[in-house]
Amino acid sequence: MKKSDFQEIIRFAMDREDESIQTYERMNQIAKTPGLKKLIDELKKEEENHKRLLKNLSQKRVESYNIKDITDLKITDYLIQEKPGPDMDFQGLLTFAAQKEQKSVDLYSELEKRAENEEIKKLFGYLVQQEKSHKLKLEKEYDKQVLEED
Ligand SMILES: [Fe+2]
Ligand SMILES: [Fe+2]
Repeated sequence: MKKSDFQEIIRFAMDREDESIQTYERMNQIAKTPGLKKLIDELKKEEENHKRLLKNLSQKRVESYNIKDITDLKITDYLIQEKPGPDMDFQGLLTFAAQKEQKSVDLYSELEKRAENEEIKKLFGYLVQQEKSHKLKLEKEYDKQVLEED
């Protein structure tokens, strides 16, 4: 595996984390209750931590990376085509954020599977669990919002 492939993947993942951070910032601005703001802020902080972990990983020694068949990883599969528009409301952002969380779960699961180094496997496994829990929290919130509307 070339160093550039690994760096490219990590940079890709960091960019996705950035998008999540931005989404949570926007949601925080329009969230109506303190409880909801707090939840969103916690999610944002965890994404910031993910970005930090990825950055640290990219700065480690090249020989220890070893991710199998990294060139077969179709990274565009982990992108969401549509970006949230400037007028997207809270529910729209909530849906978008949940879809992004699922993409993160998929990406990190794939990286976890392909990692040949135990330490790196663990790191991606940790990220999978975190993104799964984010998605669950957002889905609970979505249910709550939909119920309130009816
Ligand atoms: Fe994340
Ligand atoms: Fe997340």
